[in-house]
Amino acid sequence: MMNKSGAYNDNPFLAEYYDYVPVYENRKDIDFYKKYARDSEGEILEMGCGTGRILIPIARAGRNITGLDLSDYMLERCKEKVKKESGEVQRRIKLVKRDMSDFDLSKKFNLIIIPFRAFQHLLSIEDQLKCLECVDKHLNDNGKLIIDFFQVNMSFLTNPDYKVEKEDVSEIKLPDGRKLRRTTRIAKQHRAEQCNETEIIYYIIHPQGKKERLVQAFPFRYFFRYEVIHLLARRGFRVVDLFGDFDASELNDHSPEMIFVAKKRGPNSLKRL
Ligand SMILES: C[S@@+](CC[C@H](N)C(=O)[O-])C[C@H]1O[C@@H](n2cnc3c(N)ncnc32)[C@H](O)[C@@H]1O
Repeated sequence: MMNKSGAYNDNPFLAEYYDYVPVYENRKDIDFYKKYARDSEGEILEMGCGTGRILIPIARAGRNITGLDLSDYMLERCKEKVKKESGEVQRRIKLVKRDMSDFDLSKKFNLIIIPFRAFQHLLSIEDQLKCLECVDKHLNDNGKLIIDFFQVNMSFLTNPDYKVEKEDVSEIKLPDGRKLRRTTRIAKQHRAEQCNETEIIYYIIHPQGKKERLVQAFPFRYFFRYEVIHLLARRGFRVVDLFGDFDASELNDHSPEMIFVAKKRGPNSLKRL
């Protein structure tokens, strides 16, 4: 089995290029998470914080946040970015290297977020439950957990057309003159396991003409709505809100995302679950 972190800990190039990829840079999730961060009192924990794409804006908005990630490369890049922030923002940020399914920070948070599908790197139910157990241990009684997933497009699990590379980033020029183009493909579909072996392929052209083809190959777990609700319930979480996109719209057949807001214990309070 490949590295647990979605290959982020095997490939330094992922941290190097992450913040230049327009499909990451242009995601509409930052304001959504910032709003929950502003509304929550006390400390915030981001699990799978990566290069700080969401973590830094939350700290800039005045909140104390701990970022946890398993990848040295992503954390290193995040640290470099944090160093460029004002002293005040820097003091609001703590970074720790931990596995999100096995950690003890010996403190509690009012808001725990697992953005941009990081939970989908946890393949086994055992790891998923261990992760939620860690959340339970670190969340204050009145605190909130927010996890997002993509809403499954069934054809990704069955249609062989996805095995062919498709461009998702057309050529862009990086500040140092390198050029980056990116494609994605599904190398293997495992419908029964709800897991696809995904490849994200970076084509780099250096100013002197050298060409590289770099592949992020990782298994990605596909989650369904009711599966997540049951999974959360097994660790005593109830869903208090469910959205289909970061504009807080209701989940429907066409929604790209599934965003769960959960609290500890008690019956599910949301009628439309
Ligand atoms: C798609 S990136 C998201 C980064 C950031 N949250 C964002 O929204 O830009 C997923 C991150 O999850 C991290 N990750 C994956 N599995 C992990 C695990 N088991 N424990 C901690 N971090 C993990 C990866 O290293 C990577 O930085």
